[in-house]
Amino acid sequence: ELNLSAEASRILNKNWRESFTVPSSSLYPFQWLWDSGFNAMGWANIDLERARTEIKTLLSAQWKNGLIPHITFHNDSADKMYFPGAEFHGAYHSPNSPDHVKTTGMTQPPVLGFVLEYLYEKEKDKSENLEFYKSAITSIISFHRYLYTDRDPYNEGLVYIRHNWESGSDNSAVWDDVWKMYQPPVYNVERKDTTHVDQSQRPTKRDYDYYLNLIDISKQCNYDEAEMFEKLPFLIQDPMFNGILAASNQSLIKLCELFGMNDEKTQCEFWHAKTTAGLNDKLYDASQSLYRYYDLKNECYISMPTAMGFTPIMAGSPTKEQAAEMAKKIMGEDFTGPRLDGFLCPSLAVTSPSFEHNRYWRGPVWLQVNWILERGFRQYGFNEVADRLKQDSLSLVQKDGFYEYFNPKNYSDEKGGYGGNDFSWTAAVILDFIN
Ligand code: DGY
Repeated sequence: ELNLSAEASRILNKNWRESFTVPSSSLYPFQWLWDSGFNAMGWANIDLERARTEIKTLLSAQWKNGLIPHITFHNDSADKMYFPGAEFHGAYHSPNSPDHVKTTGMTQPPVLGFVLEYLYEKEKDKSENLEFYKSAITSIISFHRYLYTDRDPYNEGLVYIRHNWESGSDNSAVWDDVWKMYQPPVYNVERKDTTHVDQSQRPTKRDYDYYLNLIDISKQCNYDEAEMFEKLPFLIQDPMFNGILAASNQSLIKLCELFGMNDEKTQCEFWHAKTTAGLNDKLYDASQSLYRYYDLKNECYISMPTAMGFTPIMAGSPTKEQAAEMAKKIMGEDFTGPRLDGFLCPSLAVTSPSFEHNRYWRGPVWLQVNWILERGFRQYGFNEVADRLKQDSLSLVQKDGFYEYFNPKNYSDEKGGYGGNDFSWTAAVILDFIN
């Protein structure tokens, strides 16, 4: 039996680098936005000072237009250790990028609102660190303002992502439909990820051509939002990105109330209502009992049974009836496997023809998604689903270790942990679940 608490603390300490946490020491040697958010919540269970520092470091890389970047490259050896590094992204040429540190020019799921509420709840003395909280609230609101101003061209309350990496679910089968629409050039580059992790567990080489091409085009636009909107072939209203945004708005409403920030509170209430309406009116798919995607470029829906399609439940978006349908769906044979002894929640339904048990976002279970779903289903009173999400997360780590992602099928004779090991957000989620 692993001592989950001791192991999780050991991993966060191992991956701590002076003022932030790396997701995994070999594969991802810098600070990633949504990893950092989850890692801060993990730290909040054992060392609140570090949790606050993690967030301060992340926010110090915020762009002048409000964007919080997906990767902050904290040291200059970046380009040797990781590909595509700061040079390939070329985002530091943008007039909006920060002066003191190099970053990418894209973002990632906007978890910081609910992360900040989580940290504040853990504070024993609520009268301390007020400056930190107020200033973080202001930065996160300016991030959301950027999203609503620059990424919601038709005023639908649904912001778009302009790179698949912004979704967090990098090589999801959802994007296959988008990739079918055009051909990027072939990039002859040296990937580093496949020197750390078996190729069969990572996105394919051809997938990378698409990812690099989107960066190339963005760079040619010098990361100007209006120009990227014109030129990029990938503009997607993603249910997880928007669900997380809505959940963060909800948390900001509570924090603004506590801190007497009334105008800001009104602003967040407006955003929250708008995004919830957008999610339910445009993205909820009653025939699938989950949320789908909308491709703004090609003007079509993409329906795919993904774990990500359930995540707006955390924001309180679905009606009670919709939530009940979603509960049935997630416990049904698509997600728990035909033998009903698989683990929740596969990133892609095990019954989908594109399902691959070990390839990154095309099947494996991710614990940070389970955490979002656990909170969401619990909030609606679906305790059986929530308990199952929590128990499966604990069982997977106990069985396979603190991996990046896991085989959702219960092959007892096969190792089921994939990607990076000693993975920070896996440790962070476990710390929340056991505390
Ligand atoms: C990677 O390198 O695979 C990351 O997920 C990109 O953000």
